[in-house]
Amino acid sequence: MGVRLTRLASVAASAPGKVTLFGEHAVVYGQPAIVGAINRRVTVSIQETGDATFRLRMPDVGEGEAILRLRNGEVKLQSSEPRLRMAALLVSAAMSQVLQEPEKLRGASLRVTSEMPVGAGLGTSAALVVATIAGFSSLLDEKLDTKTMVELARRAELSVQGSSSGMDVCASVVGGMNLFRRTRSSIQFKKLQPREALPVAVGFTPRILDTAQTVRKVAEFRKRKRALVDAIFECIGLVSNRAVQALRDSDLESLGELMNASHGLLSALGISTRELDEMVNAARGAGALGAKLTGAGMGGCVMSLAQSFDKARKIDRALELAGGHPLKLSFSPVGVRVEEATSERM
Ligand code: MEV
Repeated sequence: MGVRLTRLASVAASAPGKVTLFGEHAVVYGQPAIVGAINRRVTVSIQETGDATFRLRMPDVGEGEAILRLRNGEVKLQSSEPRLRMAALLVSAAMSQVLQEPEKLRGASLRVTSEMPVGAGLGTSAALVVATIAGFSSLLDEKLDTKTMVELARRAELSVQGSSSGMDVCASVVGGMNLFRRTRSSIQFKKLQPREALPVAVGFTPRILDTAQTVRKVAEFRKRKRALVDAIFECIGLVSNRAVQALRDSDLESLGELMNASHGLLSALGISTRELDEMVNAARGAGALGAKLTGAGMGGCVMSLAQSFDKARKIDRALELAGGHPLKLSFSPVGVRVEEATSERM
């Protein structure tokens, strides 16, 4: 009697993080925003094991593992090291979105690595969800078009975090710089092609609140002062629209001015902190053409624009002196991709 060998499939998929140039928070209420994918990625490596469980490891976040199980067509978190819990919830939500035929899926071990700090507002959650969806759809031989992948990833993020405009997952799927807008019924995104690479300096400081909490904080402010907050959102949308032309013309002076205006408007929403303001001021003091908080705020990252790449490195030092951690990142045209796959399934 011959021995039947079953070849277990493996795949690695990666997706980029993002920096929001303009429009954060207002984008949740339908205003346009500009978001750029960055050269830091989250990679999800999946190796089928053939048993009934999914074991997740994430060495950058903590030791130990999370265990996920497939039940009634949905992937549920069974147990987790506390530090891996959020990532494990995002992975299980992402997997649940791609499991049209759960019986096709075998257990697997998953390893997640990140080239950027987790929870810094650089879209690591979105990148994790997108890379997980890309990895499992490749493993299951399901082709997803861009729009579908954005929508599935947005649903997964939404189910865990309770709010998501879809902007971060869009940047992660398509890469490059995009003008993004979410209306009541649809998501629209359009590639922007800046003529030259932007010399940016980005610094990071730990966050006080996560994205969902910060989005709630803004929603509560809007409940109390609706006309004021809606007027701030309108202005943020105006800044995004003006920035589109400035980006097309590579008009750095104008972009810097718009970034300063944007920081003022986000501060007016109550989401800046002393640490963020200190980094913004330090960047401006070191010659930045403009600086703003980027992402949800309440800590996280500051983005500043320099006249040249040399000057951006000087701003890095100023950010460090102000208590920030310079990230030396740049924008990237590369969206989600499957890095390697051995997909002979039997
Ligand atoms: C977070 O990167 C951006 C926010 O606008 C939230 C969202 O768009 O879902 C604060």
